[in-house]
Amino acid sequence: MRPKVSIVGAGNVGATTAQRLAEMDLFDLALVDVVDGLAAGKALDLAEAGPVRGYDTKLVGGTDYGITEGSSVVVITSGLARKPGMSRDDLITANARIVGEVTSQVMQRSPQAILVIVTNPLDAMTELALRVSGRDRFQVIGMAGILDTARFRSFVASELDVSVRSVEAYVLGGHGDSMVPLRGVTSVAGVPVGRLIPSDRLEAIVQRTRDGGAEVVKLLKTGSAFYAPSAAAAQMVEAIAANRRQVLPCAIRLEGEYGLSGVVMGVPVKLGSSGVTEVVEVALTEEESAEMERSAQAVREVTAVLP
Ligand code: NAI
Ligand code: 2OP
Repeated sequence: MRPKVSIVGAGNVGATTAQRLAEMDLFDLALVDVVDGLAAGKALDLAEAGPVRGYDTKLVGGTDYGITEGSSVVVITSGLARKPGMSRDDLITANARIVGEVTSQVMQRSPQAILVIVTNPLDAMTELALRVSGRDRFQVIGMAGILDTARFRSFVASELDVSVRSVEAYVLGGHGDSMVPLRGVTSVAGVPVGRLIPSDRLEAIVQRTRDGGAEVVKLLKTGSAFYAPSAAAAQMVEAIAANRRQVLPCAIRLEGEYGLSGVVMGVPVKLGSSGVTEVVEVALTEEESAEMERSAQAVREVTAVLP
């Protein structure tokens, strides 16, 4: 039997994550959405792509959480997306209600599942799911750092006309304007980025990374990014459900790591079948440590709004 992965929210991010996971041909998938027919229709459509794309992934979809029973991993993408001019933090009240309800539904059917949270505001929603689920902090993990890092890597690669595969980087901290791209550990084929890109250009890239979500929202006019976010969510699911033990930047509640406590933020973690098995502490510059502090403060302010 293959590990079962459930995705709640069959909108842009949820359905595209399902497509990416289906094409891996490693898991069985259940898709849930509050809108009647949406998850069922997308699951059927994805199953019918199997013969062409060469996968045997079993897919079911519906509005009833019964289909999620026995999941190893549950991805929560249900909620409202950002609209132009709306900050991630504006979403908190509506999405807290949705994420709280969904977490409680999925935990009743899959008490051992590792939760991957996608809904914004990401760090606060991860904190909420952690509280509602009663799970260990290493089993409720937010997706943002992989996405923010991917944006940073893609901009650095394009600046230097080099493959994204040759760019190593981490973007840590909260998923918001206060995110912390680590200039100190960013390198291209082992060469520190500071030696390759002048500091004013690098700062422009850092700012573009911070504005990465808003840049897409502005272009799309309706809805927010989903190709890169779904790629990131699927990478987390694969690392967990296939026990890859890959180190990836993900949001967890910190309890002393990086000198911070009681706050959910992105840090590099090793992901495997039991969730986070290790928090990796990379050396930060003094400036980066101060930025992590500021980011923690920004996350705390949003999280304080939680019911
Ligand atoms: P979307 O609007 O396309 O999909 C959301 C889906 O959730 C809809 O199909 C809706 O019917 C469903 N839904 C709403 N309430 C529900 C409930 N109570 N139970 C089950 N399903 C419910 O939005 P999209 O683009 O998929 O984004 C989803 C969320 O992910 C948003 O909050 C967005 O801001 C966030 N996001 C977070 C990212 C990150 O880096 N963490 C990146 C991209 C999006
Ligand atoms: C993003 O960064 C909307 O948080 C989402 O694209």
